[in-house]
Amino acid sequence: MNRLLIVSNRLPVTIQKKNEKIYFKQSVGGLATGLGSFYKSFNSKWIGWCGITSEKIGLEEKENIETKLEKEFSSYPVFLSKRNIESYYSNFCNKTLWPLLHGFTQYATYERASWKVYKKVNEIFANSVLEIAEPEDMVWVHDYHLMLLPSLLRKKYPNVAVGFFLHTPFPSPDVFRLLPWREEILRCLLEADLLGFHTYSYVQNFLITVRRLLSLNHTLGKIIVGNRLAKADSFPIGIDYQLFANAETKPKVQASIKKMSRRLGTTKKILSIDRLDYTKGVLHRLKGYDLFLHSYPEYKGKVTLVLVAVPSRTKVQHYQTLKKKVDELVGKINGDHGKVGWTPIQYMYHSLPFHSLLALYRISNVAMVTPLADGMNLIAKEYIATK
Ligand code: G6P
Repeated sequence: MNRLLIVSNRLPVTIQKKNEKIYFKQSVGGLATGLGSFYKSFNSKWIGWCGITSEKIGLEEKENIETKLEKEFSSYPVFLSKRNIESYYSNFCNKTLWPLLHGFTQYATYERASWKVYKKVNEIFANSVLEIAEPEDMVWVHDYHLMLLPSLLRKKYPNVAVGFFLHTPFPSPDVFRLLPWREEILRCLLEADLLGFHTYSYVQNFLITVRRLLSLNHTLGKIIVGNRLAKADSFPIGIDYQLFANAETKPKVQASIKKMSRRLGTTKKILSIDRLDYTKGVLHRLKGYDLFLHSYPEYKGKVTLVLVAVPSRTKVQHYQTLKKKVDELVGKINGDHGKVGWTPIQYMYHSLPFHSLLALYRISNVAMVTPLADGMNLIAKEYIATK
């Protein structure tokens, strides 16, 4: 069977170092959870950044990380320096591409220096892939961090089978054309054989953008690029249904359900859980809850909003500002409406172990999922499956 090489910015496990000790933590976000179960059931290897900058680890630690990742997770880490991470990940990926792809054009910045590092880091990833790739392998590249990779891989192996999947929306051409490096990115993407998007409208946006900016037409999603064919289509990502549907059979989940039910009491529970990201509409959700309590005071004391905000991209300004605003609004709502024995919002700013997440899904009465823009929201699917 051919091997599948999955390449993404982040591996399914993230390395952290605390008090000189190395920890392996499950990565958060749709990409890691969406692909996490799939890749284990396939003859695949995963190549990606391990979540820690090279300066923070010594040579021996690096070797131990490599060995453990390969043995236990079939994964191969890409090591990146602090400077590269700042320019490529924090700046170009998360201050240019992320806001633009989600239509938050007012947040997007365009810096030539970061673009240069983005190109350089894509080459680093390409070299890591080429170190382990064999001619028969299929390479599946993921997300906006690595949009130049299809072309870099094809240069080296003209016949390699490359797929690219975008985990975010693809915006309309009027938004995408704000990006100064739009044509180069599109041309690199078109070096993939198959380009996957979550929804039909993202595929349409991509095809129209390619036609307008590169004058390349398509027939039923197929585009002729030189002597090759690239195809774009929609493949809405799913979840590992059984993992969630069978949640209650696991003793750890059962124990967690008991503990949480006791702590949260008998009120109806509304669950809100996301990475703390401005695309998720958390502030709008809070304002909605505030309005609800003002409009229907008879629900005071009978309902609790369980707000789990998972820290994300904390070095990026817009995420820091959002954190501050969420903290303030939660405080205001709890202060305005709370009474002895009842707090309207139970707020947590950290990630949850998997069994606690499943327990929360199980005991909640409503999940409030209100992104302003989202590639494919997996929380909605996970919640329903757990019920
Ligand atoms: C989204 C992106 C993923 C990313 C995840 C977490 O789901 O599509 O590529 O891994 O967010 O974000 P982070 O910046 O922590 O990797």
